Amino acid sequence: MNERDNLFTTTEPSVGDFHFGEDVARVFDDMVSRSVPFYRELQRMVVELARMFARSGTRVYDLGCSTGTTLIQLAQACRSLDVQLVGVDNSEPMLVRAREKLAGAKCLDRCVLTNADLDDLRVENASVILMILTLQFIRPARRETLIRRLAEGLVGDGALILVEKTVSADPMVNKMFIDYYHDFKRRQGYSQLEVARKRDALEDVLIPYRLDETVELLMHNGFATVEVFFRWYNFAGILAVSRTPA
Ligand SMILES: C[S@@+](CC[C@H](N)C(=O)[O-])C[C@H]1O[C@@H](n2cnc3c(N)ncnc32)[C@H](O)[C@@H]1O
Repeated sequence: MNERDNLFTTTEPSVGDFHFGEDVARVFDDMVSRSVPFYRELQRMVVELARMFARSGTRVYDLGCSTGTTLIQLAQACRSLDVQLVGVDNSEPMLVRAREKLAGAKCLDRCVLTNADLDDLRVENASVILMILTLQFIRPARRETLIRRLAEGLVGDGALILVEKTVSADPMVNKMFIDYYHDFKRRQGYSQLEVARKRDALEDVLIPYRLDETVELLMHNGFATVEVFFRWYNFAGILAVSRTPA
C-alpha cells in the first residue's frame, strides 16, 4: 500500500542526505507524483516512445525502475512483442515494491528485476533504455562512461529515453524556474518547510546538468539524434537515438 509522503514534516534540526531506503520506498509513488510536474503524462509519453523503438528479440531496460510504475505500462504496451523487460535499481526496498506491484498487475512474469548499481551494469541487446529521473543521481564523473556503455549496449537505431531535472546557466532564470517549481510543490500539498528540507536533503545527491550539457554528453558518446520531447521549467524529457553500427 502506498502511503502519503510526509517524510520532511519532521521537526528534527537536520534531515541528512536523501537516500532511497525503506522510508522513501514506502511513500515513493505519492512523493514522485506530487513532486514531478506532469508525472502521469511523462509516464505515458516515455512508454509511447519506447513502444516505437522496442523490437522483438531484444531487451527493454528501465534503469532506476523504483517501484515498477513504468515497467507495468511497458508490459502492457509491449504485450504483442517478444521483448524481455529488465528493471534495474540498487534499492532493495524499491524492488520489493516493484515485485508486489508487477505481481498485482499480472506482469511479473514479463519482467526481470535486478538489484545492481548502474556503475557496474552491463546492458546488452537493448532496443530501448529508459532512465527516468535517474541519471541526475549518478555522480557527474561517472556519467560519460555510463552513457557510452549504454550506447554500446543498444542495437542500431535503439533509443535512450531520459527525464531529468535541469539547471539554467542564467542565475536569474534558474531562481525563477526553481521558485515556480516550489510553488508547484506547494500546490500539491507540501508545506514551505517540507519543500526546503527536501531541497537541503537532495543538495549533494541530485546533481542536475544544464539541458545543453546533457545533449552534448549524448551527442559525444554514441547518439546520432538527440531531441527534447518535454519541457516544464526545470524538467526535461530527452530522446536519444543510437547510431547504426557501420
Ligand atoms: C527518482 S527515482 C526514479 C523514478 C522512476 N524511474 C519513475 O519513473 O518513477 C531514482 C531511482 O534510481 C535509483 N538509483 C539511484 N542511483 C542508482 C544507481 N547508482 N544504481 C542503480 N539505481 C540507482 C534509486 O534507488 C531510485 O529508485
